[in-house]
Amino acid sequence: MITIILLLAVGTAIMAAPSPDQCPRILADAGVTEGFAPLVAHAIHSLALEDIRYFFKSDATEDNGIPTVNMDLSAEERVLPNAPLMGYDDDFSTIGMKSFDMVMRNMNRTNWGSRNDNVLVRVTHVLHMAELWNKISESYKNIARLLDPKSDICACATDIENNDVLNYVQYLAFKIRYPGITSGNATLTERYITALSSEGRTKRSMDEPVGYDYDFCWDGSLDYEKSRKPNFRKLDFDLSDLELLKNVSEELLDGDDGKAAVQLDSDAHWDWWRNMVKRISMGDSAYYDIAVFMFCMLN
Ligand SMILES: *[C@@H]1O[C@H](CO)[C@@H](O)[C@H](O)[C@H]1NC(C)=O
Ligand SMILES: *[C@@H]1O[C@H](CO)[C@@H](O)[C@H](O)[C@H]1NC(C)=O
Ligand SMILES: *[C@@H]1O[C@H](CO)[C@@H](O)[C@H](O)[C@H]1NC(C)=O
Repeated sequence: MITIILLLAVGTAIMAAPSPDQCPRILADAGVTEGFAPLVAHAIHSLALEDIRYFFKSDATEDNGIPTVNMDLSAEERVLPNAPLMGYDDDFSTIGMKSFDMVMRNMNRTNWGSRNDNVLVRVTHVLHMAELWNKISESYKNIARLLDPKSDICACATDIENNDVLNYVQYLAFKIRYPGITSGNATLTERYITALSSEGRTKRSMDEPVGYDYDFCWDGSLDYEKSRKPNFRKLDFDLSDLELLKNVSEELLDGDDGKAAVQLDSDAHWDWWRNMVKRISMGDSAYYDIAVFMFCMLN
């Protein structure tokens, strides 16, 4: 018995982890799509530990390894290494009420969560994310029966330094902090740089009139097999926002001005928004990709 355990231990110890260049093949063979990294980034960018416990794993810890965009948009740390405890009010019993309460409690806080949108957009966002996590959790349950957390598939899915998940979360963090930064509008980029450098940390000047959406990065009509991948090679995300803004605006240029066609302020305009929300609701193969990631990270 002891020998067998030892053999197993040695066996795992000397078994080589797959190298980053083997991973795309390993993930593709497991049915994971080309859109893995951007899809995962979109799905996790605003995850709270409470959401993880509710939708995926009830005993997940603060040391969960799921990178998220820092809600504090003026903090130096753009991306947090873990999904944090958000402080949901446990007196509420549904996830809808809990997340609605979070939006309302922070309604008048600046530099928090998102910029230039109104409270209805924020409510729509949290409910949209909860719907997405609900869909992913269905796929997660199936995957949990089939996938070995020690498999090469999981080694590749969790290698966020090399599989671009971390890069895409950084990409999203820039879009959230500096709406329109990847649009190619040099005036806007200069405005952000000036606001950051001259006024120190006075970010109020960064706010533009209400009208931005959160359609960033994930475009339901985008075909990741064919689309141009952003070039992260030249970007060192350890640098500060100020050091990176210009390079991000150039290297990650994608034409996204971050603006919604209409403000969410009437039933007529909701029509545009509800179609947008439906359009970005991903679909089964995306839920599978994200569920693979969540399962491998949490187990
Ligand atoms: C708080 O935010 C709401 C919604 O954006 C706004 O209508 C209201 O004027 C704000 N109140 C204060 C005190 O800033
Ligand atoms: C570029 O950004 C500036 C500053 O926000 C804005 O005034 C201008 O209209 C933008 N240009 C275009 C073409 O969107
Ligand atoms: C950013 O871009 C400038 C040129 O615009 C270049 O000199 C610099 O090395 C770049 N920095 C990084 C970190 O990529």
